[in-house]
Amino acid sequence: MSSLVSGFSKLNKQEKINWLVANFLKENVNANEILSLYWNTDKQLQQLHDDFIENTVSNYYMPFGIAPNFVINNKVYTIPMAIEESSVVAAASLVAKFWSDKGGFKAKVINTEKVGQVHFMFEGDKHTLQDYFIVKKQELILVTDNITKNMRKRGGGILEIELRDKTLELENYYQLHVTFETKDSMGANFINSCLETIAKEFKKDGINIVMSILSNYVPNCLVKAEVSCSVDKLHPTNGKLFADKMVQAVAIANVEPHRAVTHNKGIMNGIDAVVIATGNDFRAIEAGVHAYAAKSGTYKSLTSCKVENEIFTFSIEVPLALGTVGGLTSTHPLSKLSLEMLDNPNAKELMQIIAVAGLAQNYAALRALTTTGIQEGHMKMHLVNILNQLEANEQEKEEVTKQLIGKVVSYSGVAETLKKIRA
Ligand code: MEV
Repeated sequence: MSSLVSGFSKLNKQEKINWLVANFLKENVNANEILSLYWNTDKQLQQLHDDFIENTVSNYYMPFGIAPNFVINNKVYTIPMAIEESSVVAAASLVAKFWSDKGGFKAKVINTEKVGQVHFMFEGDKHTLQDYFIVKKQELILVTDNITKNMRKRGGGILEIELRDKTLELENYYQLHVTFETKDSMGANFINSCLETIAKEFKKDGINIVMSILSNYVPNCLVKAEVSCSVDKLHPTNGKLFADKMVQAVAIANVEPHRAVTHNKGIMNGIDAVVIATGNDFRAIEAGVHAYAAKSGTYKSLTSCKVENEIFTFSIEVPLALGTVGGLTSTHPLSKLSLEMLDNPNAKELMQIIAVAGLAQNYAALRALTTTGIQEGHMKMHLVNILNQLEANEQEKEEVTKQLIGKVVSYSGVAETLKKIRA
């Protein structure tokens, strides 16, 4: 217990590192060197990163890649992606190119409603509470007037406040279920400020406010994207067989949650990478998307696939609460650049772009899984990581890559080949 600490946040960066080294790292680990390697030499830029969170000791780098050739609603995009998994950007680029001469992706925002809730306990008579709410409702909206003023100017604000009786699920439990339109901001702070103000006003004898917080489950902040073409254009030799397998692969994910989770994980490879690159909150998106996938009571595929009249259609429907203003979107230089390369989309456009990134990733995964298997492409991309792990130099990398052309890549195979070269 000797390494418990108090007042830690008040130490400066070097003092924090010294404490870490003294208490949690072995002597042979050169933490100072590793951590400082990733500091930005531009003091102002480093300060910006230091200020994002507390106790910053370095920056954690991730590759920032771009996937070109995405045609979405007849506009060409290059999509920024921040992700460490080797094959994701390559897969996105391949699929984007494939669909670019088949009409591209079509995407549509279905709705943009966000949700927040004031959770409270009330032991008295239900009807008294309902009557109190009816009288109070307008006042609840009025007390947020100052907070919602700017949002209302932009066409957003509070849409509705509803009193929900949850006493069947939990004794004495009720909520104020509040819906919002937050336009181009993700709106978390706006929603939480409104909720806390509403909660304060709603307190009355016998009402016990438990908490007020936005919900990351946003089934009515929904976007749909799809691709379609005639079956014979799908595959150079057997479009029909390929299409049938794609339909079967999605059908399996719809009845088998073990498969659905992996299927949707592949979708999130695309979605998260763009969410992170554009400075949005990927944990909120992840939580909301998976809850949506389970909305029927069974966890299912987020994508759909069908063949009708020889036309193959592959689509996705996902809830995405995103922002293109505020938060990290306007402070992190790479988020700003990401939005810039996407032609500074509004939140609705970004929803469409990100849904497409998810759909493209799922198409790539299912295409590989139902044809060659996933490992061929994956390991090809992963080869360089293995070579780096084995500390191969440039010449060795070139030679191993040459020798493995057309062969299945595995860690032991690469190690063996490298050993022979070195010998
Ligand atoms: C790997 O990151 C993602 C996949 O497992 C997705 C899938 O199985 O559909 C390839």
